[in-house]
Amino acid sequence: MTSTMSTRTFNFSAGPALLPESVIQQAQQDLWDLDKTGIGLLEHSHRDKAITRIFDEANQLCREVGNVPDDFEVLFLHGGASTQFAMIPMAFLNNGKSADYVNTGTWTTKAIAEARRFGDVNVVWDGKPENFNSTPSLDSLAWDPQAAYSYYCSNNTIFGTRWPATPTTPTPLISDMSSEMYARPIDWASHDMVYAGAQKNLGPAGVAVVIIRKSLLEKASTDNPSMFRYDIHADKGSMYNTPPVFAVYFVGKIFEWIKSQGGLTSMEQMNDRKASHIYDAIDGSGGFFTGHSRLEDRSTMNITFRCPSEALEATFIEEAAKQDMVNLKGHRSVGGLRASTYNAFPESGCVKLAEFMNEFARTHG
Ligand SMILES: Cc1ncc(COP(=O)(O)O)c(C=O)c1O
Repeated sequence: MTSTMSTRTFNFSAGPALLPESVIQQAQQDLWDLDKTGIGLLEHSHRDKAITRIFDEANQLCREVGNVPDDFEVLFLHGGASTQFAMIPMAFLNNGKSADYVNTGTWTTKAIAEARRFGDVNVVWDGKPENFNSTPSLDSLAWDPQAAYSYYCSNNTIFGTRWPATPTTPTPLISDMSSEMYARPIDWASHDMVYAGAQKNLGPAGVAVVIIRKSLLEKASTDNPSMFRYDIHADKGSMYNTPPVFAVYFVGKIFEWIKSQGGLTSMEQMNDRKASHIYDAIDGSGGFFTGHSRLEDRSTMNITFRCPSEALEATFIEEAAKQDMVNLKGHRSVGGLRASTYNAFPESGCVKLAEFMNEFARTHG
């Protein structure tokens, strides 16, 4: 049976996550027959006009929706966000320099470990002793002006923290925005590269959207294997080899959908409102629910919280599922509960969860 809007489950998954219904429905049609060519989306050669047009449009919409300045390249690369953990130091951590990393969670820990395979890493701040419940205050960070680049993760999916403001660094700034790309406007003046695995706000897993300033791209090492060279992917329009056509098609449709919703400023307002329903339920519970993140660093994408006991958390998950709200279990490194409410997640689901939380605290408190 095909689910309709009213019967779809509220899926609070941290990713892959809920996607806009109109885009899924359009994709169903295009898989069968793309643009009345009589050939489905996945059956076309990537050299066909129908597909090169999809890539051009995805690129153009990415720029338009994100307000990306002209001196940046937009790339669609295989291997998700994790490939970027290695590709970045392979490209830029050379000439005997070190790189500055801020450790705000599991994904930066992994990125640091990958970078260390290629050169020296200077961890300028480490949130591990506090189990990553905050981001650093900007003026506490001593960036090395000689570093090859500076790196941070703007939204920490597992811990539910995000940087309230963008750091200013003396060297090119790179950000993993996997769990919040295009959920709020990006400060392009401060960044030289941002990237995201698409499976949260932007579409299917497997593709990474990489937006990189040309002046940084020009510094990338040309000694690496071709698939790990930003310059080659840029020269070939993200079609150096057979590209992940479906993923790029879908990401393009998501950009179009974001545009139809009013763009990134509207997205941010909507996401703030959505998250506030749930945070209000935490804060209004008289201490029954406790948030993991420090207040100033709360993410609007991933909301992490606990009940007074693990037994109550298990009951919470079980009872929420009976009301069609699923994937609320927190990551094992934090425990408790996590509600992920990316761009496509409807506000009605956040209201429903908040009402459920209020009732749960009342009956179990
Ligand atoms: C912030 C962040 N970075 C990187 C990743 C890894 O993404 P991928 O599975 O596409 O490699 C994730 C996945 O959840 C993430 O949340």
